[in-house]
Amino acid sequence: MTPLKGLILSGGKGTRLRPITHTSAKQLVPVANRPVLFYGIDAMAKAGIEEIGIIIAPETGEEIKEVAGDGSAFGVKITYILQDEPAGLAHAVLTAEPFLKDSPFVMYLGDNLLQGGIDDLVAAFRSNEPDALILLTPVPDPEHFGVAELDGDRVVALAEKPPEPKTNLALVGVYMFTPLIHDAARAIEPSARGELEITDAIQHLVDTDKRVEPHVVQGWWKDTGRLDDMLEANRLILDRFERRVDGELIDSQVEGRVVIEAGATLTRSTVRGPAIIGAGANLTDCYIGPYTAIGEDCVVEKAEVEHSILLTGSSVHDLDGRMESSLLGRNVHIRRSSGQPRAFRFMVGDNSDIGIL
Ligand code: DAU
Repeated sequence: MTPLKGLILSGGKGTRLRPITHTSAKQLVPVANRPVLFYGIDAMAKAGIEEIGIIIAPETGEEIKEVAGDGSAFGVKITYILQDEPAGLAHAVLTAEPFLKDSPFVMYLGDNLLQGGIDDLVAAFRSNEPDALILLTPVPDPEHFGVAELDGDRVVALAEKPPEPKTNLALVGVYMFTPLIHDAARAIEPSARGELEITDAIQHLVDTDKRVEPHVVQGWWKDTGRLDDMLEANRLILDRFERRVDGELIDSQVEGRVVIEAGATLTRSTVRGPAIIGAGANLTDCYIGPYTAIGEDCVVEKAEVEHSILLTGSSVHDLDGRMESSLLGRNVHIRRSSGQPRAFRFMVGDNSDIGIL
């Protein structure tokens, strides 16, 4: 059997989570303190895929290379493939053709998270031998996704973000393809948003009587493109955590499933899980509530933080109320200031969003 290759799409622009992703790729935004991209690499490695191509964009590619490396940390071999412009998912496939050659492959969108991994899909693809296999899940807002119409176990029509969806079955960002997809991607025209859509390429397979099989996802799936989705993904991953306390506790309590990394220090503080506190973080006289991920080298002092994500090097000091459902980028500092006049003082990047009591 020809070995399956993996293709992870980590190019694109990442405009929706600005300013968090202004200087950093959206696929590197951490979920439970690990870049979201790592979960896709893990899933492929677990399914026995040894060769993975990662599509990168000129602006964010170097950062992705630095973080994911040659793949040895995951037990796979990673090849980086530069896509000059974010011209669409099918364009990304064509860009990867010299790497993929005539191998069948799994395509995984680098900002997606799939709870159940991909082992079942790989097994279904191997045993049923369709020309393509797509993943679907019912969603309340199908107009924001690719949408599929089925006839029994066949896909009969697909539409990308249709204003009036015919079903509630959204395309999940994981696909399995045979090399037929390359010719399909070459046969289509750019969509109204100017992209070569993978949805249209799959529709082309359907139109030319190829067998496209649907697979409905068991368990949860998240596209981490927006703040609420990030918080939810964080919650879902933290929920599967086992307790592990390697950091230092001084007069502090740790309740439930909490990971405290080595090098973190808690003084007169309480952490109620599920939560993770990164290496080098310093927590003093504070409360960290459920579903919170505190990144490396963060400082929290005299404050309460719950259901939030703090990226590396951020700090929160002396807050009157509890900080909730928030995402702080890297090196963001929030503190009470005692200077006169008594006023709010902000220095925030473009496109930020701040809620005040
Ligand atoms: O998340 C599932 C949805 O993903 C599907 O339901 C849609 O059918 C599919 O088109 C896609 O929609 P999005 O609009 O959410 O795709 P987005 O532009 O966010 O790109 C998804 C990933 O692919 C992201 O990690 C960036 C990367 N990408 C994107 C483009 C357009 C590339 O690597 N190259 C590209 O040219």
